[in-house]
Amino acid sequence: MIKVAAVIGSPRNNGETYKNVQKFELRLKKLDENIDFSYIFLKDAHIEQCKGCGVCLAKGEEYCPIKDDDKNDILRRIMESDGIIFGVPVYSLHVPALTKNLLDRFAYILHRPCFFHKSFMSIAVQGVYGDKNVIKYLEEFATFSGFKVCRGFGITNTIFSEEMKKNDKLIEENAKRFYQHLMSPTPSPGIYQLMMFRWIRSSKPYIAEDCPKDYQYFKEKGWLESPYFYDIELNLIKKIIGAWADRQGMKLGEKIKKQRMIKVAP
Ligand SMILES: Cc1cc2nc3c(=O)[nH]c(=O)nc-3n(C[C@H](O)[C@H](O)[C@H](O)COP(=O)(O)O)c2cc1C
Repeated sequence: MIKVAAVIGSPRNNGETYKNVQKFELRLKKLDENIDFSYIFLKDAHIEQCKGCGVCLAKGEEYCPIKDDDKNDILRRIMESDGIIFGVPVYSLHVPALTKNLLDRFAYILHRPCFFHKSFMSIAVQGVYGDKNVIKYLEEFATFSGFKVCRGFGITNTIFSEEMKKNDKLIEENAKRFYQHLMSPTPSPGIYQLMMFRWIRSSKPYIAEDCPKDYQYFKEKGWLESPYFYDIELNLIKKIIGAWADRQGMKLGEKIKKQRMIKVAP
């Protein structure tokens, strides 16, 4: 069984977002009846608002003062899935507060990514304008948190049958693309992803005092020495670029460390 979970980020369970994701589900299941497709409705989840203390970033998520809400259940559902769909309406040119709230609670995952080898796709449902902003934001979040990202798409609501047909076609095409993505091995990282990894990881030893949890996590995973987050062969160009980004990361780390020493000096 291939497990796909769709996070519905709308405050309406039976709204346009859900209807469109249901169509996507049908198309996906037509391609493979072994797909176990489930829903995570953020409207029904109890997710407290992030208090902004930053403890999860520095010390670890286990020290988060918010206990006993549904954040960890959602995380578990994502971890158990092979693919994740974020179905999100456009509200005021961005994601609705419900969705943003969950992602704020997941902020520490941007520091300590964990969603490797899982396919991610966003579906943004809009009245007129803003889907691209939403897709860009969600894809950036997904990339930094480790997902293999399959390009998302937008749906514009309509009452006209010709446009409805176009939307259905779009959903069908994108379901096919997502299915292929789901079935493909994780690709070698692009230059940007590789540079970000090497830059961030090389700064970690210098900021270990400020973010001990990050340092410990990267160390445990072997990321302080490895070419990338997961096992890959880099070509010569990527090796050179990686080594360059490592040096930039060290420079950044040294700068942050110096700033701290100046700040704490008597
Ligand atoms: C509070 C609010 C803000 C909205 N802002 C936008 C917007 O900025 N751009 C847009 O194209 N549509 C906007 N819409 C329309 C929704 O994106 C659209 O109706 C969407 O399909 C709603 O999905 P839902 O039924 O799942 O909530 C907004 C709707 C609401 C309720």
